[in-house]
Amino acid sequence: MLLRAIVKMKFSSIASALALTASVAAAPKKGCPGNSTLPYTTIAGVKVVDTPLVRQARELMEANFEPFLIRHVYRTWLFGAATINNNATLTAKIDAEAHAIACLLHDVGWDDKRFEVDAAIYTVNFLRKNGVEGEWKARRTNPIWHGIALHATSSIGLYSEDLMVNFIVESINMDHPGPHPKFSVEDYDNIVAAYPMDGLGEGTNRAFAHIASYKPEVTYDTFLEPWGVAYVEGYNPVGHRLFDRGNANVSSPVPMRRNVHGL
Ligand SMILES: *[C@@H]1O[C@H](CO)[C@@H](O)[C@H](O)[C@H]1NC(C)=O
Ligand SMILES: *[C@@H]1O[C@H](CO)[C@@H](O)[C@H](O)[C@H]1NC(C)=O
Ligand SMILES: *[C@@H]1O[C@H](CO)[C@@H](O)[C@H](O)[C@H]1NC(C)=O
Repeated sequence: MLLRAIVKMKFSSIASALALTASVAAAPKKGCPGNSTLPYTTIAGVKVVDTPLVRQARELMEANFEPFLIRHVYRTWLFGAATINNNATLTAKIDAEAHAIACLLHDVGWDDKRFEVDAAIYTVNFLRKNGVEGEWKARRTNPIWHGIALHATSSIGLYSEDLMVNFIVESINMDHPGPHPKFSVEDYDNIVAAYPMDGLGEGTNRAFAHIASYKPEVTYDTFLEPWGVAYVEGYNPVGHRLFDRGNANVSSPVPMRRNVHGL
């Protein structure tokens, strides 16, 4: 299903399409390995986790998506990792491997639901299928699910009481031009030199318009709606919004009624 949806993407440069085998070497322990025992590497000057599963997520992105999107997910991971490395609380509390994979896969949203929900489901399934058995229980996967599902609704996600959730949302939302106060300008410069922002605005526009065109029903009344209105012929959210339900038979300017939420 996912594969079919991805192949339909007009703009994707699909190569070997998710044919990645579970070439995951066994990690030493079950459960959640301590961060200090994880393998690390350095990318663009930033120390990052380097587990077989993280490598597999990187390969999946690199083999299946457009360069602008690959660079985007790398920046979100690296901006987040630079922030973790710069903050003792985050270093102690963030599940670095879970954070890496959430950032890398947060845009794999090509099934039939809201794209953030598709990506959340896809990522958790990816972990269960490819991760070491027993390492990806709900305690670790739930924050990933919610961080990805809320990444485009930062007005909610950034306020989650779960640090992992709000930090995943924050990392993804750091991908805007210009240094971020939570990590050094040097890190910022190194990261954008390795993964330039070129094409981010234009690519995002195309991707969002594409989503609004192939599954409009899950974009009405969401932040994607304006892309449908602006770019997709025949796209009409009227009648699909909560506003329409609340206002259908109301002529007064104070339309909210008790029954809007079925209460
Ligand atoms: C480190 O991160 C924690 C959790 O996000 C935050 O509350 C704290 O203010 C940060 N510390 C610094 C020095 O930025
Ligand atoms: C990293 O350390 C924190 C605190 O010990 C822990 O909550 C988190 O799960 C660790 N990450 C991993 C991958 O074990
Ligand atoms: C609006 O009125 C019509 C005709 O009376 C009715 O069929 C419809 O269910 C009403 N819609 C709402 C949302 O109350």
